[in-house]
Amino acid sequence: TSMLMAGRRVGVCVSEKKRRRMKVAALADLCIDLTQPMESQGPFDVIMHKLSDIIVEAEHDNLILCFLCLITIGQNYVSTHPRTVLLDPLPIMKQLLDRFASYRIISKLQDTLKGPLQFRAIQRQGLQAPPTNTFFRICKTRVAHGSRSHEMSLIFNPAGLRDVQPPCVLQSFVNHGAVLHKVFVVGEDHFTVERPSLKNFPTGPHDRETIFFNSHEVSKPESCSHLTALDETMPRLPSPSDDAMVALVKELRAELGMALFGVDIIVNIHNHTLTIIDINIFPGYEGVPQFFSSLVNHIESVLDPSRTYEAQEDITDSQVEQ
Ligand SMILES: Nc1ncnc2c1ncn2[C@@H]1O[C@H](COP(=O)(O)OP(=O)(O)O)[C@@H](O)[C@H]1O
Ligand SMILES: [Mg+2]
Repeated sequence: TSMLMAGRRVGVCVSEKKRRRMKVAALADLCIDLTQPMESQGPFDVIMHKLSDIIVEAEHDNLILCFLCLITIGQNYVSTHPRTVLLDPLPIMKQLLDRFASYRIISKLQDTLKGPLQFRAIQRQGLQAPPTNTFFRICKTRVAHGSRSHEMSLIFNPAGLRDVQPPCVLQSFVNHGAVLHKVFVVGEDHFTVERPSLKNFPTGPHDRETIFFNSHEVSKPESCSHLTALDETMPRLPSPSDDAMVALVKELRAELGMALFGVDIIVNIHNHTLTIIDINIFPGYEGVPQFFSSLVNHIESVLDPSRTYEAQEDITDSQVEQ
């Protein structure tokens, strides 16, 4: 990191747990101590953060208000230091903590993916059965962050709607051969790793009890569950093509304006269309050994003065001339 650090300062603002899991010693050394004034630790050229995690940790200790203050401090720091690059912007992160908002973003992208993900945002109890025979749905909490957000259910028939606890999202289930493609984005780069995922289920209404599960049992690298073991043998599905991935990541980056995020993609077993089922803020990059070098490249590219400051000066000059 020495080259990167020459005269520049990168601050990292993540929870204690995330810091330990990042397993990148160089990053740990850059951590900002949120209990101390930021002014005395800066000035920062770039701040990489996962404030969303810190909020969630704070919730457990009932310190949420205190941490909301810290976020304000962070926001103030950036507004009083306009040259500091914040990775990533807070407003979009806030949207991604809400599955109602994130699936609206995803459905815009699905037009180009041709694998529509139908969903209904359920605000309150007492919903009607949708007028369709293909009833099979997955139900997720509205809040997309924190331990409860991974508690999900599979609903097989109208009676199962009794098990839905609003506010939540009811989403069409896509059979995908129990393979999840996790795409990790770092600026211009992306990396894909495979993970276990939910098995195929018969489509159509089914006389079956609701299945409750925690998504950590399903799609972590070490996950091993009866819900991920296929009941049938089936040929391996084609992995998403490089071209499709490049196009998708480009579109996502433009839409989100973020540099550090991940998406979960599944391939429909019937027509091989791709569906995005999840967008993740500053994910773990587990299984991506190139993460750190890619991150350094990205930070260097945002620090490059010819790309940031001079470009801004050009605009100012032309405005002055008018
Ligand atoms: N629409 C869907 N169709 C089929 N399986 C899904 C769908 N949505 C989620 N899953 C399965 O549930 C898991 C967790 O869903 P996800 O939305 O990624 O939640 P989390 O925020 O917990 O990662 C996925 O990894 C996948 O196995
Ligand atoms: Mg996920």
